[in-house]
This record gives sequence, C-alpha cells and structure tokens, in this order.
Amino acid sequence: MNTLKHSLPTAVSLLALAGAAVWGGTQLASAGVSPDSRPVAVNQPLRTLAALDDLRIGTATDPTLLSTDPTYQQIVGSQFSLVTPGNDMKWQTVEPTQGTYDWTAADQLVAFAEAHGQLVRGHTLIWHNQLPTWLTTGVANGTITPDQLKALLHKHITDEVTHFKGEIWQWDVVNEAFNDDGTLRDTLWLQNLGPDYIADAFRWAHQADPKALLFINDYNIEGTSPKSTAVYNLVKQLRSEGVPIDGVGIQGHLGTQYGFYGADAVAANMARFTALGMDVAVTEADVRSILPMTNPNLQAEAEGYNTLMQGCLLTRRCISFSIWGVSDKDSWIPGVFPGQGGALLWDENYAPKPAYTALQVDLASFASRHR
Ligand code: G3I
Repeated sequence: MNTLKHSLPTAVSLLALAGAAVWGGTQLASAGVSPDSRPVAVNQPLRTLAALDDLRIGTATDPTLLSTDPTYQQIVGSQFSLVTPGNDMKWQTVEPTQGTYDWTAADQLVAFAEAHGQLVRGHTLIWHNQLPTWLTTGVANGTITPDQLKALLHKHITDEVTHFKGEIWQWDVVNEAFNDDGTLRDTLWLQNLGPDYIADAFRWAHQADPKALLFINDYNIEGTSPKSTAVYNLVKQLRSEGVPIDGVGIQGHLGTQYGFYGADAVAANMARFTALGMDVAVTEADVRSILPMTNPNLQAEAEGYNTLMQGCLLTRRCISFSIWGVSDKDSWIPGVFPGQGGALLWDENYAPKPAYTALQVDLASFASRHR
C-alpha cells in the first residue's frame, strides 16, 4: 500500500522493538531489517529523531510559561520542531474588542519559532468556543444579522491569515464541526450561515495565503467511527467541488480508562483520508488518566501515545505529530475533567515519563528501518 511509510507487518512487531538494545551505554533501537540499516540512538531529543522520519513533532504552547519558565522554554525549544499556540490565535484572543486586533502573544510565538527553527500550526480560524463576547452577544440579541455574521467571518479569516501570511505551515481552518454521531454540530455558524460556512472558510483562507496548508480538525476521529466517516464524506465532497482543503487534523485526546484503537486501525483510518489526496496530522495528542498516576496508568499512557505515533509513522502523508502541552501542570485536563490528568510527556516537575521514552523508541525504530 503506497500510503505506508514502511512495510511493517503489524504495530505489535514495532512494540517488540521497544525492547531496544543497550550498547556502549547508549540505548539503541536496532531494527535490523534492511542491509544498510544502522542503529539509531534512542536517547536524543524528539525533534532530532522525528527529523529522521521526515516528521515534524510539536507542542501547544502557553505564552506566560514561554516567557517566565526557563525549563519550559528549554524543553519547547529543544524537543520540538513545530509549535501551536494553545489559545493565542483564537478569535477571542486576537480581537477582544470589535475592530481592535491584538496579535502580541501570537507574534511572540512566531518569533520564538523562527529563532528555534520551528514551524507553526495556526489554531484556529473557526470554532464554537473562545469567540469574542461582542460577537456571541451580538448574534444572540440580533444586532448582528446572519449576513453581517458572514461578512465578519470573512473579514476575520482574511485579516488573521493575512497577518500571518508566509509564517504558518498548517492552519486549522475549521475546528470541531461534527458531533460524535456524525451530524454537523449545532453551532452559531451552522445556525446562521448553514453548512456552506465550511467551504467558504477554506476558500477565504486560501485566498489570503495560498501556500498555507488548510486543515479540518476534530477529536474522536483517530479510528473509523461515525464521526471520522462524516469528516471523510465531507472532505470527499469538498475535494470534488474544488474547495482548497489540504489536510485532516486528528486531535488525539485519549483516555486510559477508555482504551485505544490500535496503531494499525489508526493507520487504516488515516489511509482513507490520504487516499483522497489529503495530508493528515496528529494535532493535539494527550492521554489522560483517572488520578493518581499509578505505574499501570503510566504504562497505559505510553501505550496510548504509541498507537497514535505508530499510526502516524505507518502513514506516509502523516506530516506532523503535535502534543497538547508540555508538562502535566500546564494541561487543560484537570480544569475540564476534575480528578483526571497525567496526560502529557513530562510530569509536574518536568521529569520525563514513560510516554516520552515510548515516543523516542517509536521514532528511532522507524528511523533505523528507513535508512
Ligand atoms: O486567560 C484567562 C485568565 O486571564 C484567567 O485568569 C483564567 C481564569 O480561568 O482563565 C484564562 O483563560 C483560560 C484560557 O484557557 C487560557 O489559559 C480559560 O479560562 C480556559 O477555558 C482556556 O482553556 C482552553 C480551552 O481550549 C478552551 O476551550 C485551553 O487552554 C486550551 O488548551 C483548549 O484547547 C482546545 C483546543 O483549542 C481545541 N481542541 C480541544 C482543546 C482542549 O480543550
């Protein structure tokens, strides 16, 4: 299958590789499958290993931590080759007062990325959350009509994409437009503009920056499900209509209490999208647990990350893998799911967790097969 980066028989065999050899005091992942394969040292920064797989590895960032916490700054700068602003490009942040833009935090992140040889994922142009109050209030009280809302959306997309033109690799144009049953989510956008808001948004974004890759992004779509099939059907329709859509963003918010699709199932689902000519990306990976983080939870967390990473590595057009934060103290999870957490690669004290090592092994194992 030409969508596979490598002809690995199963994800299970890759897990076997995780029992990596130790040689000269350095942990090695030695696949030993091709005549010219050489062992790759596992204990290297994620971005170094990902580069061997032609993959960008990223994190969502927080501007306060980035400017005040040296350890956070050091990890973001050295471990990742891609950054996504966790909140700083959302409409609520960039236009808190109608007609007055504030690009400060987002501009600082773009500068940080340039200084550290990183690319930027723009997140997100259309969502039903984190909209400015002036907008939601105006729609609710009728002072913003549907026609005016459409014009405001056009202006928002045009102005934001133009501001960052040439600096954004991938834009999440439309975020979380579907319900889990595959119907379109009943948002302010759908209610006032009808389903065409999605195609319009991609066209407007493309007009403003023709070189940016334009993504539709959602959660619970890493495996084949009613929701991922709905995204697939929409993408297929948009492509047939010539709408400029380039990629599907698979957020990847997992939980150890729910279990996971296997890596092969993730790869098979990604293959549906790449068969339509799309790129895919894992955009917001995290794997939460019901606290405390026991050893079984830590191992299960690592296994969850493995399924997403191996699924991505098995997919030639999976172009980036982003994690939604750095340490467990800067995750959104405890605030939204009380009693849960432990979802990221570093713990609250910035000690790397088994999930971090698991990703190193995944990346190194595929790299040595690749050589
Ligand atoms: O900035 C204010 C601060 O001034 C105030 O003191 C504080 C008090 O609560 O709130 C701060 O704003 C918070 C903001 O994050 C910045 O930290 C909001 O309350 C909080 O709701 C907001 O949460 C964000 C969430 O989206 C909103 O839905 C998370 O940081 C962000 O990680 C999360 O990201 C989303 C993706 O965009 C889309 N996919 C799901 C993902 C997780 O929910």
